[in-house]
Amino acid sequence: MTDNELRQEILRLKNEKNAVILGHYYQRHEIQDLSDYIGDSLALAQKAQEATADIIVFCGVHFMAETAKILNPQCKVLLPDMEASCSLAESCKAEDFAKFKAEHPDHMVISYVNCSAEIKALSDLVCTSGNAEKLVRSLPENQKIIFAPDRNLGGYINSVTGRQMLLWNGVCTVHDAMQAESVLQLKADNPDAPVIAHPECNPALLEVADFVGSTKAMLNFIKASSSKRFIVATETGILYEMKRENPDKEFITLRDNKSCACDDCAYMKLNTLEKLYKCLRDEQPEILMSDEMIEAAKRPIVRMLDMSKQLGIIK
Ligand code: 13P
Ligand code: SF4
Repeated sequence: MTDNELRQEILRLKNEKNAVILGHYYQRHEIQDLSDYIGDSLALAQKAQEATADIIVFCGVHFMAETAKILNPQCKVLLPDMEASCSLAESCKAEDFAKFKAEHPDHMVISYVNCSAEIKALSDLVCTSGNAEKLVRSLPENQKIIFAPDRNLGGYINSVTGRQMLLWNGVCTVHDAMQAESVLQLKADNPDAPVIAHPECNPALLEVADFVGSTKAMLNFIKASSSKRFIVATETGILYEMKRENPDKEFITLRDNKSCACDDCAYMKLNTLEKLYKCLRDEQPEILMSDEMIEAAKRPIVRMLDMSKQLGIIK
């Protein structure tokens, strides 16, 4: 089938089966075009919770589709490629994490949404990059906290809040590999362009960034900024939405520095038009979880959504 035929078939099957397609900003642009909603992890979790469709096709990675299933268990949740994992989720195995948690019984556990349902089930509160700072700030100052699995996001929150959360030693291999030296070089060549970075980047890079935020927060920053050019330190998929929303602005990436071609997430890019079509046609691969796991993992996610509403982060 040609790409055009695939697109038509996807739209036909979507209507016929009363399905909704949720897509993350890092997806291939042809998938973003077909998505009913594109967003960051926080917005997509909320959309999944509110969805009234019979089927959610989650065009993102496994932990996102799992979160959608947890929040809307009566919905059939499909993921075009089950191999679409995440280095952060891979870095934190439930057995190891349970031991770590047991060594610190006086700590509450905050897990970044980029982790398995088993880790969420061991957590008191889940967060995303879009709400992590505000959620942590809202907790009592003397509250002892374990933060897992992203040591970069956790370290960033520690640095801006003055907290001393205990960090699990995981990273996003895509963002962690981006080098501050490359950014500094780009900055020197483009002094008018602010640097915007995702908090999954390493501390040296975040140190030289002018703005740090989630995918959605970066989009908001660009829209509101009077600058015309931006140096972008995050996964390349989001450039599509950045350019779509800001056709008069220019985006410089670490790839433009020639020293780094590491800004594509191989997991995110596993989803293709063809896999999306087959997934809708065959109604698989499907996210399947036990009722017990859904219940246990749901508690800290719902707490995150409730707190995010109370704090005015989401409506
Ligand atoms: P956002 O929540 O900022 O969209 O980031 C999620 C993520 O890590 C995707 O890789
Ligand atoms: Fe995971 Fe990083 Fe890929 Fe996001 S970009 S899915 S954090 S590996």
